[in-house]
Amino acid sequence: MIMTDKRSADEKIKKVLFSAEELHEQIRLAGKKISEEYEGKPLLIVGVLTGSFVFMADLVREISIPCEMTFMEAKSYEGTNSTGNVKITKDIPHDITKYHVILVEDIIDTGRTLKAVTEILKKRGALSLKVVTLLDKPERRVVDFSADMSLFTIPDLFVIGYGLDFNEHYRSLPYIAEYDA
Ligand code: IMP
Ligand code: MG
Repeated sequence: MIMTDKRSADEKIKKVLFSAEELHEQIRLAGKKISEEYEGKPLLIVGVLTGSFVFMADLVREISIPCEMTFMEAKSYEGTNSTGNVKITKDIPHDITKYHVILVEDIIDTGRTLKAVTEILKKRGALSLKVVTLLDKPERRVVDFSADMSLFTIPDLFVIGYGLDFNEHYRSLPYIAEYDA
């Protein structure tokens, strides 16, 4: 890959794991699958901020059926119970009893955030609820949680780019890279 971007000269960016092309091919397939599965159904796509915003933008453009979209934000703090303490810091305005909901996440790590968020959304009575994640780090899981669709499974590495950050930097890189945190 030709690195023309100055951010890529950063020595802490160890290795490109997935190029923009590789990401887009899997996202294209995911969008096609979602379009087939939810045809004729009221669909609400909910991105989990902030990391999912790039994935969400590309995914929704590969979905060929009508859908609504919104974002929510949740923060997870290590706690004494299995899910830690997860707080919804930005909620969605929708009455989700009217929708099939797809939660879009950048990466599932310990699983704490999404386990708690899905439990909260389930109580609100969506017609159905599924989770689509770009990346999954199953080795890091501390709670029992799995996504309904995961585009890439990675080992226990810290990754950046394509929405994912290290201390709020690198989100705008067009690829996913391993980072020497
Ligand atoms: P968890 O599954 O509750 O542990 O938290 C997942 C969240 O932690 C993700 O949505 C990311 O915001 C962040 N995160 C986990 N692993 C990484 C990584 O490798 N790079 C960047 N952010 C990460
Ligand atoms: Mg996140």
